[in-house]
Amino acid sequence: MIYFNEKTLEFHLTNQAMSYVFRVMDQTGTLEHLYYGSTIPHYNDFSFLIEREIRPSNNQVWGNNLTSLEHVKQEYPVFGTTDFRYPALDVEYPEGDHISQFVYQSYRIFTGKKVTGALPGTFGEKDEVEVLEITLKDHYSDLLLVLTYHLYMDEPVLTRQAKLINQGQQAVSLHQLASLSVDFPKGNYEWLHLNGAWAREAHLTREAVHLGVQHVSSTRGHSSHMHNPFLALCQPDTTEKQGEAYGFSLIYSGNFLAQIERDNYDVVRVQLGINPFQFNWQLKAGETFESPEAVMVFSESGLNGMSQTFHRFFKKHLIRSPWKDKKRPVLINNWEATYFDFTEEKILEIVDEAQQLGIDLFVLDDGWFGHRNSDTGSLGNWTENRAKLPHGLKNLSEKIHEKGLLFGLWFEPEMISNDTELYDQHPEWVLGQPDKNISHGRNQFVLDFGNPAVVEHIFEQMTQILSNVEIDYIKLDMNRYISEAYSNMLAANQQGEVCHRYIIGVYDLYERIVKNYPEILIESCAGGGARFDAGMLYYSPQIWASDDTDAVERLSIQSGLSMLYPLSTMGSHVSAVPNHQVARVTSLEMRKHVAMFGTFGYELDPTKLTSKEKKAVKQDILDYKRYQELICSGDFYRLETTDENQVAWMVVSQDKNEALVGYYQILARPNPSYERIRLLGLAKEKEYSVSEGDKKTVRYGKDLETIGLILNENYIGREQEYWSRTMPGDFHSRVFHLTAR
Ligand code: GLA
Repeated sequence: MIYFNEKTLEFHLTNQAMSYVFRVMDQTGTLEHLYYGSTIPHYNDFSFLIEREIRPSNNQVWGNNLTSLEHVKQEYPVFGTTDFRYPALDVEYPEGDHISQFVYQSYRIFTGKKVTGALPGTFGEKDEVEVLEITLKDHYSDLLLVLTYHLYMDEPVLTRQAKLINQGQQAVSLHQLASLSVDFPKGNYEWLHLNGAWAREAHLTREAVHLGVQHVSSTRGHSSHMHNPFLALCQPDTTEKQGEAYGFSLIYSGNFLAQIERDNYDVVRVQLGINPFQFNWQLKAGETFESPEAVMVFSESGLNGMSQTFHRFFKKHLIRSPWKDKKRPVLINNWEATYFDFTEEKILEIVDEAQQLGIDLFVLDDGWFGHRNSDTGSLGNWTENRAKLPHGLKNLSEKIHEKGLLFGLWFEPEMISNDTELYDQHPEWVLGQPDKNISHGRNQFVLDFGNPAVVEHIFEQMTQILSNVEIDYIKLDMNRYISEAYSNMLAANQQGEVCHRYIIGVYDLYERIVKNYPEILIESCAGGGARFDAGMLYYSPQIWASDDTDAVERLSIQSGLSMLYPLSTMGSHVSAVPNHQVARVTSLEMRKHVAMFGTFGYELDPTKLTSKEKKAVKQDILDYKRYQELICSGDFYRLETTDENQVAWMVVSQDKNEALVGYYQILARPNPSYERIRLLGLAKEKEYSVSEGDKKTVRYGKDLETIGLILNENYIGREQEYWSRTMPGDFHSRVFHLTAR
């Protein structure tokens, strides 16, 4: 429900789980933020939320000592009008100043949301989402600012977007247009973010919000391995299970900024949007600039509550692939099996073996095109490599389909190698300043995807394959950062637009693929998880989470990603040991137990498995398929463990009749403590049969949550077994399946 009080000019956006209140300030006509959090009753007058101290020592917009915007919690702050914190909007006017004052003009309330324009976004039917659009006009120019709020009815979710319209006669330079800004009152806050590097993405960090500015961001052209366009704010006593949490996610895959500023009065400003660093967009007369959309989730049931809301919300209102609710095929990818070194014969051997094992889909990764036998060339030449595939891709696909498997193919459309015809014909299509050094990354250069002709050309090349070969799945990769963001097609004063135009071009390509080949299952990827973000989920229902397939490392990566991304979106595979990224040896069982909490698959040479391993893999695939529905549609919980040596995950079906628990112990401990793990999300009154392999116990939901699963065996009467029992050792995992009786 969205209330507007004509008299007090207050807006109250509320549903059963959250409230958000702001008002128009009488003195300045700008917007003052009043409240965001748990649902509160609707008041005819929210003025009790207004706080104003007399502070003569500060700058005043005008008049009395009460108009210092520095002390006002603002809805969408600008700089240069007495608020000295970082703004949401920064416009440089033709005169060279940056002074704006956006004054409330009008509002509009309507229902339903569609995605229009060049950026991905959320969608909902008329009975699912109510929309508030506020228009403000710049006091000094003919710029209009439109702030949009989408209130989803059934979820504690509000999404926001900002739009700047230039109705004047002259261009302005837009340096920043945040997607959202929220000022939280003084409190004891902590913040969570996901960070890492290649092969160790999305590690969760939780720390106190300190005075001053703290942020995560990307300047690399994509959302990056280093940080994720997400942050959450909570209190020190917020746990997985209880307490308040506010989650913020940006639906964007380019350079972003997710920032917190705690000022000297302890107000905490959260902002998300395109990274203003070197961003400079020429907004010409008559043009409009739209920010990406940002999602705000409020939870009163801890971090798991926040995560589950994100999961449900993304599945229902962001991911649109027809695959989103279908069971995904169990795949095998040849990357770690062969790297570039394969022949058609070798591929067919892998496929034969995969068929025996019960795998559904074979994915041919890098190396099938041009003359690519290493990572030194051929990107941009998307024609089959006849030296490797003498009968061609079409024939290969037919053979694979004849064997009953689906066929998938890898592309890296945004890149170009300097040994291609395309490079010779269009050197100007490479991003970089031609008079200066242009760095390579993995021997490759970045195509100027901000240039529509480039997107058109690459799509054409892909079409030749996608329309002529039966392809069921594509992996769309991006394997380097943008270091020299310079486009030959843009004027000098537009070079600050390159990175945003680039990502719009990427979205354009993805959109064309989705529209023209709607049945193809897309898995996006960027050197592993450098583009694991909500923007990509709009096009691809699954994303390769990391190039690191080590089961232990994956515990951190997948736990981190689960903060907001559903299990059904996480590409996770069982690979060979010693693991190719860390040389760790973990059991096949543990690798399976970790990969099954995601879109399960294999990334190894099945012809090299022993017959014992093949037997196990066959069974593992059957097991996964048995639980697949539960894993992909159930509610996911990170369970609390007593130390960092353990990780535990759980999925509970919507009707609470079935659950799966994964328990992972990283290092073995001599003479260990007794371990218990408290479960979550079960029906308290229900009796569950808890099975681990052949072992079964019967327990009530209530005590599985309060006492927990008892993990140690009871050796009473079996003392002699001390000498003969096998110890689990390092990297040990267990999976329990629960069914209500
Ligand atoms: C990236 C991907 C890998 C693989 C290689 C191929 O690193 O993340 O999965 O596709 O590229 O070059």
